[in-house]
Amino acid sequence: MQEIAYLNDTFMPLDKASVPINDRGLLFADGIYEVIVSRQGRPFLLEEHLARLQRSAAAISLKLPISTDAISEIIQTGIKKAGFPESMIYLQITRGTEARRHNYSPDIRANLIMTFRARPEYASEKFSQGVAIISVPEIRWSRCDIKSTALLPNIMMKQKAVEQGCQEALFVSAEGSIRECTAANIFLVKNKTLYTPPANRHILNGITRSFILRQARAENLELIEKDYSFAELCRADEVFITSSTVDLMPVVKIDDITVGNGRPGPATQAVKAFFPIR
Ligand code: PDD
Repeated sequence: MQEIAYLNDTFMPLDKASVPINDRGLLFADGIYEVIVSRQGRPFLLEEHLARLQRSAAAISLKLPISTDAISEIIQTGIKKAGFPESMIYLQITRGTEARRHNYSPDIRANLIMTFRARPEYASEKFSQGVAIISVPEIRWSRCDIKSTALLPNIMMKQKAVEQGCQEALFVSAEGSIRECTAANIFLVKNKTLYTPPANRHILNGITRSFILRQARAENLELIEKDYSFAELCRADEVFITSSTVDLMPVVKIDDITVGNGRPGPATQAVKAFFPIR
């Protein structure tokens, strides 16, 4: 097993990979990304991730350097080469390399970067006992649906959460609506109904979020996508967060408020069962 990188057209050991100083990803965070995990040697929900990559690229007028079919092949090869039981594939496409100037040339060629590492492990108590999160003001831009590498507000707030011993920070709008966490979507359960904020420009439409919604519909669970206030969130029976890296993690504390009875609940367990066993 080995951590590896893929840079434009070549696989190499991760610590040998570097990008040019004039890469616009480095200079301006002018790029988009995806985080994909593999299970049993195969990328999980790959088509959905590549479709979102295409949407993000179109939204910032970035021409992908190669087709998504070609990207898919590289991902499958990389997973095999790296050889981890479960890997985490980070895929970033930057606008390209050019002397620093805010606008870019029409013929600039995008750079493709990928890394293949072991999927991160989380302490099992986080899943069995749940985690705490904090609420923070929404300070991001108005296109959070684009999976952009410009993540400074997310980083500032995640760091704040971690420094307070919490797992995540939840962005709450000035009007009091819950949005999403710095790197995860949020769900709540009230009277056996599953709620999550709608997929609009205020949040990233998580691939894990969509997967859960599809499965929940297939199983005829009560499900509502709507804006929910922070006050209502605090009165929920159960809360959980979702992302490709964690699948689903129960939340039992928000700021100083205990969620439900302070333990992960039955609906959370039922949704967790949608995922293939790790
Ligand atoms: N982030 N919202 C935000 C802001 C995110 O950054 C992420 C994922 C999600 C969940 O999306 P998905 O289910 O497609 O992973 C929601 C990845 C994991 C990251 O930045 O590392």
